[in-house]
Amino acid sequence: MLHNDHLERWDRDSFFHPSTHLAEFARGDAPQRIITGGEGCHIEDRDGNRMLDAFAGLYCVNVGYGRSEIADAIAEQARELAYYHAYVGHGTEASITLAKMILDRAPSHMSKVYFGLSGSDANETNVKLIWYYNNILGRPEKKKIISRWRGYHGSGLMTGSLTGLELFHRKFDLPLAQVIHTEAPYFYRRPDPAQDEAGFVAHCVAELEALIAREGADTIAAFIGEPVLGTGGIVPPPEGYWAAIQEVLARHDILLVADEVVTGFGRLGTMFGSEHYGMKPDLMTIAKGLTSAYAPLSGSIVSQKMWAVLEQGTDENGPIGHGWTYSAHPIGAAAGVANLKLLDDLDLVTTAGEVGAYLNAALTDAVGGHAHVGEVRGEGMLAAVEFVADRETRRFFDAGEKVGARIAAALLEQDKVIARAMPQGDILGFAPPFCLTREEADRVADATARAVKSVLG
Ligand SMILES: Cc1ncc(COP(=O)(O)O)c(C=O)c1O
Repeated sequence: MLHNDHLERWDRDSFFHPSTHLAEFARGDAPQRIITGGEGCHIEDRDGNRMLDAFAGLYCVNVGYGRSEIADAIAEQARELAYYHAYVGHGTEASITLAKMILDRAPSHMSKVYFGLSGSDANETNVKLIWYYNNILGRPEKKKIISRWRGYHGSGLMTGSLTGLELFHRKFDLPLAQVIHTEAPYFYRRPDPAQDEAGFVAHCVAELEALIAREGADTIAAFIGEPVLGTGGIVPPPEGYWAAIQEVLARHDILLVADEVVTGFGRLGTMFGSEHYGMKPDLMTIAKGLTSAYAPLSGSIVSQKMWAVLEQGTDENGPIGHGWTYSAHPIGAAAGVANLKLLDDLDLVTTAGEVGAYLNAALTDAVGGHAHVGEVRGEGMLAAVEFVADRETRRFFDAGEKVGARIAAALLEQDKVIARAMPQGDILGFAPPFCLTREEADRVADATARAVKSVLG
């Protein structure tokens, strides 16, 4: 491709980047990075820098970059049939096959897959299905959704409300009134440091029970949670958390939505996080790992219990009034089919579990003893390092010091390794492609130790 000397300026002048400091970027004060290629766990930018992407894009390029099997499937589908809609019973071989492949991998009580394009729109669909479900059951008051502080479920109106991070609410008039938040299962940040895991789980349960009592169970429709908190800090739940929460939900007839956008299709070393933690969700949200982001595609997996009521609803009210033009887009579906085949053929879910454990151990060895590292935690191919001003008291650094962001920047500058400064707190997140090798994991850990030392001494 010819080098376009204007691209940097066009970018600053024309492109509204998501989750970016708009003024700094437009002024040229915030970094600009134009990515041109990728292979395996590495990406390359326009200046010829080759970087080890230890966050797999936005924890989505699970099979790694440059997979010709998926690229070929996309090209073939585009040539054969780039698009046809899925309304009023239409389908394509790719979309039907993918729905079947997803259900073959999902818990056995799941029944159907609705396809969208993003994790956000899939969660919007979920909330609509929950409201529809309770209307059909004659419970029009049972509509509120409980989410957790630090949960991440998207950035639409409803999904941005479900997201429990202040940055996604402030100045947007969110959260909407139908959303209520409860305690995050964040053991390291437990309010009472004397609590053990069981004590903290009991505390989370008590908080949830109190919220339900305050609002009234007959006003609460569902609880949504990521099996492992992702964008809120990469926080695996304490032992026994999901079993205890599910017991409360069942008692109050509250549906469970497992948001598997990050954990779905292998990131924890199991096909789904629900399987990993013994969750029995009524709805599951999938996106990212469904296509490894080779094309946009998401889904809501609907349980048999909810499906029966949706069928009843259409018998009573006619066709369901929900759909996107690009639902089940054949190109996304073809990418999904090729991606799931690749996961199987290369046994990448097993690799994610094994190499992920290796990466977690390597990070613990490399930085776990540092005076400003409060915790190294993770599960499967997910890891996080949390920095604190004081280890003893778990005191935060001043937000203005931007410790997490500075460490991520040092990591990139010194060793060309990409990790993500998570949006709330000084937390460095790692979520590499599943094809990460042990040598690459060592490189990530060594580079992290150097970056931490250069910023914090
Ligand atoms: C758990 C979870 N749910 C939903 C979303 C939203 O997905 P999208 O950005 O595709 O809308 C994300 C995105 O990171 C996520 O991590």
